[in-house]
Amino acid sequence: FHIDMDPQAAKKGAYPYYMLKEIDEQPGVMRTLIQEYFNEDGSVKIDQELLDALSKADRLYIVAAGTSYHAGLVGKELFEKLVHIPTEIHVASEFAYNPPLLSEKPFFIFLTQSGETADSRQVLTQVNEWGYPSLTITNVANSTLSREATYTLLLHAGPEIAVASTKAYTAQIALEAILVKAYGEAKDIKAAKDFDVAVELTKVANGMQELVDEKGDIEKVAQDMFATTRNAFYIGRGVDYALAQEAALKLKEVSYVQTEGFASGELKHGTIALIEEGTPVVAIITDPKTAAHTRSNAQEVIARGANVLFISSRDVAAEGDQIILPEVDPLLSPLVSVVPTQLLAYYVSLQRGYDVDKPRNLAKSVTVE
Ligand code: G6P
Repeated sequence: FHIDMDPQAAKKGAYPYYMLKEIDEQPGVMRTLIQEYFNEDGSVKIDQELLDALSKADRLYIVAAGTSYHAGLVGKELFEKLVHIPTEIHVASEFAYNPPLLSEKPFFIFLTQSGETADSRQVLTQVNEWGYPSLTITNVANSTLSREATYTLLLHAGPEIAVASTKAYTAQIALEAILVKAYGEAKDIKAAKDFDVAVELTKVANGMQELVDEKGDIEKVAQDMFATTRNAFYIGRGVDYALAQEAALKLKEVSYVQTEGFASGELKHGTIALIEEGTPVVAIITDPKTAAHTRSNAQEVIARGANVLFISSRDVAAEGDQIILPEVDPLLSPLVSVVPTQLLAYYVSLQRGYDVDKPRNLAKSVTVE
């Protein structure tokens, strides 16, 4: 039995669209990952050979496209902050023709829901010619990128049918955290040993459930703030900036609202010129270190007429913030903060009468260059 092969798992059932079903499935996906990757005694179940190969690397190179690239942005934070290994993240189509200068002992991580993205395959072919070790993190067993990489880890997210990726993004981040934990244990790194991923991911699953249970709030925000807008912004710092980029992609790909994810401090260096009366700006605030700074950036756009929606963690929330996120480990905050942004994209698309599962001009898996 393999969950990717389960025909029932691909049925919409009572759901009007796959995208909503897949958003709702995320708490379950977190729990499946805990089951698949942890032993009874709490130790991580990841192939020792893979951990040995990773341990030998002096630098990691994450290569991906689209939403998977955005999951890689969070992965870079996890690898660098928790286990102190320099990590680069590259867009596959850029790496293919303009590779960076490589370190002496590189290790490549391919993030790909489908395992078939042509741009990523092209890079893996090159990596294999160079003879460097690689890991593919994918939702599809036996996919091309899985077969051609040295190692594979499966996302166990079940079939993802909607073109806009949701549960694969959160599964990728969760699995990156599990891998970081295993690597840190193998290397005896204190920060990683103290990081109880199974417990943290359980908190994430519960937090996600709270958020999907309150989807009516987001439906209302979609109506109130986004009904007629032609453009929008997501802003944040650190992992909130990484999340802002994914949130912007989600909204633009299903609703056709031109949306940018911006580093909140960078907006004033040019892009703030686009803010007009009523422009929606969503501020993501989960990091206590930078909360005050992002709030002040939000004030700058409010002063220019923007309509700001605050999505903030409970511990840094201020009066008037509209969406309060359940508390989780700060490095894992994108796993919960992404949920309201996925729902927002879904409802804006629906309210505009689009087929949210099949946005125009897009394919689920892009197998040509
Ligand atoms: C397509 C899809 C995106 C996806 C990207 C990368 O563009 O529309 O949703 O993120 O490919 O796909 P992958 O399967 O490699 O994660």
